[in-house]
Amino acid sequence: MPHTQFRAPALPGADRPVEQVGGHWLLARVGKKVLRPGGRETTSWLLDQIDIPGHTVVEFAPGLGHTAREILDRGPGTYLGIDSDPTAVELVRKLLPDGSHRAIEADAQHTGLPDGCADAVLGEAMLTMHTDHHKLDIMREAARLLLPGGRYAIHEMGLLPNDLAPQTKDEIRKALARAIRVNARPLTVPEWTALAEEAGFEVVAVHSTRMGLLDPRRMIADEGWAGTARIIGNVIRQPQIRRRVMGMRKVFTDNHDHLAGLGMILVRTGG
Ligand SMILES: C[S@@+](CC[C@H](N)C(=O)[O-])C[C@H]1O[C@@H](n2cnc3c(N)ncnc32)[C@H](O)[C@@H]1O
Repeated sequence: MPHTQFRAPALPGADRPVEQVGGHWLLARVGKKVLRPGGRETTSWLLDQIDIPGHTVVEFAPGLGHTAREILDRGPGTYLGIDSDPTAVELVRKLLPDGSHRAIEADAQHTGLPDGCADAVLGEAMLTMHTDHHKLDIMREAARLLLPGGRYAIHEMGLLPNDLAPQTKDEIRKALARAIRVNARPLTVPEWTALAEEAGFEVVAVHSTRMGLLDPRRMIADEGWAGTARIIGNVIRQPQIRRRVMGMRKVFTDNHDHLAGLGMILVRTGG
């Protein structure tokens, strides 16, 4: 009998050394599926706030496609995933049933999609890693894709409290950037709201939870017992990865009181 070897699909960032790869892809390498600051709980909350069945849903930055799967399970008329990473786009394409669904390689700032084509836009764990200027450009693109009244659901990293001292914000952002090797710029709720309003949205709902990406309790809620055990085993067995994951965890726990996982529902104004 011919022997068929199973080959796991390549992950984004697979060609980068452990020391340089972005924290989210490092965690994906050890089997972590939920790479969003507010966990599955926040994703479910967001999905319940947007119209999916029979509607056109654009997802910015689907990454490994875990939320794409949940959107598809809810029966959208059309799903359009936009990711700038070609490996992510390939992974998402494999999930799409035949029909009008598509995964497109593009920057969310310039999707190439027509004005007003989407009933809802959703994006998780992607605005935080851009400058405020680029965040605004991406939010403006979401506004362009939606008709007035359309909803843009975002899931990003937040800073607490709202009046956090500018120097502390800077220190946290620098510590995050050093640990996750990505220029993370989390914002307070009023800062996210100001950007959303500038892009043409009104914020109608906010869901805030502690940033628990690497907390045992959240890991079990997000990945299950078996998934958590597999991730921990993979981290323990690989000293270089272990050092990096512990470095990230330290920044998250040191700043536990100041970091949040935020879900926000933005409604396109005007019309
Ligand atoms: C941390 S992962 C999050 C993936 C997924 N949303 C999730 O929550 O699991 C970040 C993803 O955002 C994508 N990304 C970042 N900036 C982007 C941009 N400007 N346009 C499109 N995709 C972007 C990356 O390629 C990557 O797939």
